[in-house]
Amino acid sequence: MKPSTQQELIDRILAHIANGTTDTAAAERSVGTDDYLGTVRLEQELRSVFLERPVLLAHSSQLAKAGDFRTDEVHGRPVFAVRTRKGDVRAFLNVCRHRGARLVESEQGTSVNGFSCRNHAWRYDDEGALAHVPDQARCFSPSALAGRDLFSVPVQEKYGFIWAGAADGERRGLAAHLDPLGEDFDGYRFEDDTIWSEDRLTGRFNWKLGVEGFLEVYHFRSLHPDMKKYVFVPEVALFDQLGEHARIVAPKREIREVRDTPAGLRVLRPLVTVVYFVFPSTFVFVEKRHVTTLRISPLTPDTSEIRVLHIAGQDGLLRPETLRQNIALFTKVLSEDVAAAESIQRGLTSAPQKLLFGRNEVGLHYFRDSLCRAIEQSVGQSV
Ligand code: FES
Ligand SMILES: [Fe+2]
Repeated sequence: MKPSTQQELIDRILAHIANGTTDTAAAERSVGTDDYLGTVRLEQELRSVFLERPVLLAHSSQLAKAGDFRTDEVHGRPVFAVRTRKGDVRAFLNVCRHRGARLVESEQGTSVNGFSCRNHAWRYDDEGALAHVPDQARCFSPSALAGRDLFSVPVQEKYGFIWAGAADGERRGLAAHLDPLGEDFDGYRFEDDTIWSEDRLTGRFNWKLGVEGFLEVYHFRSLHPDMKKYVFVPEVALFDQLGEHARIVAPKREIREVRDTPAGLRVLRPLVTVVYFVFPSTFVFVEKRHVTTLRISPLTPDTSEIRVLHIAGQDGLLRPETLRQNIALFTKVLSEDVAAAESIQRGLTSAPQKLLFGRNEVGLHYFRDSLCRAIEQSVGQSV
């Protein structure tokens, strides 16, 4: 993040603290519950919102050397990504082109000789080309095998992360979607960090309820009593849009100590948690010395998967024990957020009503507007 942006954000936070204010939307907003329910809405979102946009697949250090691979689900489809011998990352649908079996079964690993299907042993190289078919001469003519390479999935390595899209979306290109984050992300040098640990869980809530739980800080004091250990300034947060994405800054109490520090000597990162929301469903939490990413994927209208990565530098400044404590607290807080989302989901189905977004829940207003805009644009493009 540029030094001038850091100073501006610190000034805005200090002004809010002095005035007892926070960033707000212009007015409250009521929202119907139908958007959280039913397959029709989810299918529309998958088509109009997810298909075109990147989601976070991995940290670059998880595919560090040639042959390293990971399997995943992107937009409801099985994919795998691999670091090729040329050094770039490619991703493919994890579906054999013979008769459709799942090609790569392990969650992660290293393959030095491409990928072989367990079913009949068709083998593909690291660029997805069909490389070997057992008993080919007796079974398949060359023309029958033409065009039987793996289906490519758009993938982009940027800011130290690997991002994936859908096989048949991508009108703008993944990089263009990610560009608005560059002014902030370039300065962090996430590519110098290394994966520490990862986590995965599923819950019974619509994916948007999961996202919304990380777009406002209003719930901190009530839902997360242990957050006192984080020493956040209660009820104060900054909200800014970065293109389609968003940045939320939650200040810690130490920020008051830099009130009289000359602007050029103030550094933002140790004084706050910066939460980036990469529309539509990825979060990047920038902490003092480590980074946590979180991706929420819809499985059904009322079940979602959350994948978490914890990433840290190798500069020796972060003690492993401190990182372990931070991750334990994050995991506990996440379980509280998931329980809240599940509770809301049950409430929506048992008592349909208009929900109310407060002026202080400005991230929820932004998210709702962004979803509507993405759906409208998609419908406009397809007519
Ligand atoms: S289904 Fe993969 S080789 Fe037959
Ligand atoms: Fe929370």
